[in-house]
Amino acid sequence: MLIVSAPAKIILCGEHAVVYGFPAIAMPVFGLRARATVRPLDRVDFRIRLLDTGETLVLTDTDHPFISLVHRATRAVDRPVPTGIEIDVSSDIPIASGLGSGAAVASALVKSLFQHYRLESDLTRINALVYEAEQAFHGTPSGIDNTVIVYESPVYFVKGRDIEPISLKGKYHFVIANTGIPASTKETVAKVRVLYEQAPKVTGETFENIHSLVDQSRKALTVGDNEWLGSLLTQNHEQLQKLSVSTKQLDLLVAVALQAGAYGAKLSGGGGGGNMIALVSQDKIESVKSALLRSGAKRVYTTILE
Ligand code: PMV
Repeated sequence: MLIVSAPAKIILCGEHAVVYGFPAIAMPVFGLRARATVRPLDRVDFRIRLLDTGETLVLTDTDHPFISLVHRATRAVDRPVPTGIEIDVSSDIPIASGLGSGAAVASALVKSLFQHYRLESDLTRINALVYEAEQAFHGTPSGIDNTVIVYESPVYFVKGRDIEPISLKGKYHFVIANTGIPASTKETVAKVRVLYEQAPKVTGETFENIHSLVDQSRKALTVGDNEWLGSLLTQNHEQLQKLSVSTKQLDLLVAVALQAGAYGAKLSGGGGGGNMIALVSQDKIESVKSALLRSGAKRVYTTILE
């Protein structure tokens, strides 16, 4: 039996602007993972069992993104689809909540196939395959989700460029809170596009402001300055408010985290619901978490970047 897993992700800063070629920083959330478990079958067959939904997929389900991914992955490495195996897929990453659940499952699936064939883990190729699966789910993703999830390291990402890993100094504690409001990244990305078309100058300036905050955030991470990073994240939230992708609930949770002593806080990902993140000192984790829960957050997680 072979078990391969992939982490969830969160966007630290630069979301939305990244769609237009500006940089963004994303990081893995190692504590939440998707898993692919490859088991032998006693017959010539290939199946994927999605344990969380109870669905079973077979090779003729070519409309399903995971099966089409299997076909593309096997073609890409010039191997036949393996027979006599069943891949169990499960995930502790909540779906449609901006944590990259689809990309994590796709990454675990492709990595499990590559390991089954005993192929070198060619991350560039795996990333390209997972990106195509993301396109099937989301339309025109920037590619940041699949990149951070496949590489399992924080990245400074610019669409179409080679990835730049970030050399971190120090430790960063994050609280992630989910509003419980389903967010459609496709919709908020479309909303920003309309805004950009209607007000190109102002929206372009907002993207430039975000660009500068992302570059400063990278610097803060490389010098280990939590306070500086926190302030940059809060400023990034204000820019996202200008793009109209925040909501009352996200603004409330950001304010509550700051009042509870966080270094900084912002919405994370597409907005319109979904998640916010707060950068906190270790001794403030519990108080920020409970303040967020008291103010209506549906789920809270913590993750450490070091
Ligand atoms: O909602 P998430 O966490 O998948 O993030 C979306 C990030 C955007 O920049 C809004 C879109 C993208 O494709 O990068």
